[in-house]
Amino acid sequence: MLALGIESSCDETSIALLDGDIDSSLSFYDQINNFKSLGSIVASQIQIHAKYGGVIPEIGARQHSEQIHWLFLQVLNQATKQNAEQINQTHLDFLKKLDYIFVTNQPGLISGLRVGMEFAKTLQFFIHKKTGNFVEIDHVNHLNGHLISCFYQNTEQKLSDNQVFPHLHLLVSGGNTRLILLESPNKIQIVGKTLDDAAGECFDKCGRMLGFPYPGGIYLAKTAQIKEGNPANLPIGMNNNKSLDFSFSGLKTAVRYYLQGIDIPDFGFEKALKKGEVKQLQQSSPPCHSEWSEESHNYTRHPAKINFIKNTAISIQTVIIKQLINKFEQGIKTYNPKSIGISGGVSANALLRQKVEQLGIKNTFITPFELTGDNAIMIILAGITGHLKK
Ligand code: KG4
Repeated sequence: MLALGIESSCDETSIALLDGDIDSSLSFYDQINNFKSLGSIVASQIQIHAKYGGVIPEIGARQHSEQIHWLFLQVLNQATKQNAEQINQTHLDFLKKLDYIFVTNQPGLISGLRVGMEFAKTLQFFIHKKTGNFVEIDHVNHLNGHLISCFYQNTEQKLSDNQVFPHLHLLVSGGNTRLILLESPNKIQIVGKTLDDAAGECFDKCGRMLGFPYPGGIYLAKTAQIKEGNPANLPIGMNNNKSLDFSFSGLKTAVRYYLQGIDIPDFGFEKALKKGEVKQLQQSSPPCHSEWSEESHNYTRHPAKINFIKNTAISIQTVIIKQLINKFEQGIKTYNPKSIGISGGVSANALLRQKVEQLGIKNTFITPFELTGDNAIMIILAGITGHLKK
C-alpha cells in the first residue's frame, strides 16, 4: 500500500509518503512497523507566529497554502531518489501507484484543516485526470495520529498483540492531555482528560510569564533540562484524588501570583527576556567569569534574575511532570496494561521521557523524538490502523 499523508491542523505543514503491506497474519505492532518512509517533510511556522506570541489562525492558513505544494514536490523528489534503481521513474509514475491519501480533518484550526483537505481533493482530481488512478481519501483524527505514533519504533523487534494490548497511553500535546486505554488498535477509550488547560498549554503560558518567547514551554523545558526541584509553593493538580482526570489551571494561577509578587532587579511578569538571556538560560551552567566575552557580559548583568528564572523553570516543570506521572501510575494500577506509551509535543520533554521509562513497564513505547510534534507520518499510521482488521 502506497499512502500519502497530509497534516495542516495548526502551525506545522507536513507531507509524507509511506509504503508497506497490510498483512493480517501479523500483529498490529509488526504491521505498523512494516511500513517504511519514502519521504517526509515538516515545515514549522513557529518563527512566523512568535512575533505575535501565539498562533494566528489566518496567517497559519496562508502559510499552509503557500507551503503545501512545494512540500509535496520535495517528498516526491525524496521518494524518486530512494527508488533510484528504477531509473526514469517520474513523479507521475509514483502517483499512478498511490492507494490512499490520509488527511487530518479534526481537531485543529478550521482554516488550516481546510487547506489540507482541499489539497487532498485537488490531488485526487489531478491524479485521476492524468493517470486514471482514483485515489481514496480518508479523513484522520489528529489525536489518533499522535497516539499511534508511539508504536512506530523503527526496530527489528517483533511484538505480538498479547504483549501490547491492553495499552495505556498518555497523550500530551499543546491542546490536549488524555489518558487513553486501547483494548485493541481501534478500540479507544478515554479514561482521563484535563478539566481545564492542557499540559502543553500550561508549559507555554508559564514560559510566557517568565518572559520566554513563543512557544514558552519549549524554552522553559530547555532551561529546566532534567533537573528536579521541590517546590512547596506550587500545587500538584488533582493530587490525592482518585479521578484519572488532570488539571493545570490552578498551577498556572499559582505561578502568576507568585511571579507578580517577586522583586528581583530587571525581572518583570511577562517581561520579554533578551535574546542573550534566553541563550544563557539554556546553557547547562551559566558562563563563569573566565568565559565571559563582550557578548555574554551583555546578558549577564542580572545574575539574580537568571538564577531565579532557572530555578522557577525547574520548579514548574517538576510540578507538571509530577501530575502527569502520578495520574499515569494511578491508571496503570487501575488497568494493569501490558504496555504503556506517550505521545504529543510534550512527550519530547526529557524529564517526562525519563520518568516514564522509570515506571518499569516492560513494553514502554516512547514516541520517537522526531514524531512528537505534528507530522504527516503519524497521520498515515493512524489511517492505516483504521484499515486493519478490528
Ligand atoms: O503536539 P503538538 O506539536 O501540538 C498539538 O498537536 O497540540 O504540541 C505542542 C506543544 C506545545 O505546547 C509545546 O510547548 C510543547 O508541545 N512542547 C514541550 C516540549 N516540546 C514541545 N513541552 C515541554 N517540554 C518539551 N520539551
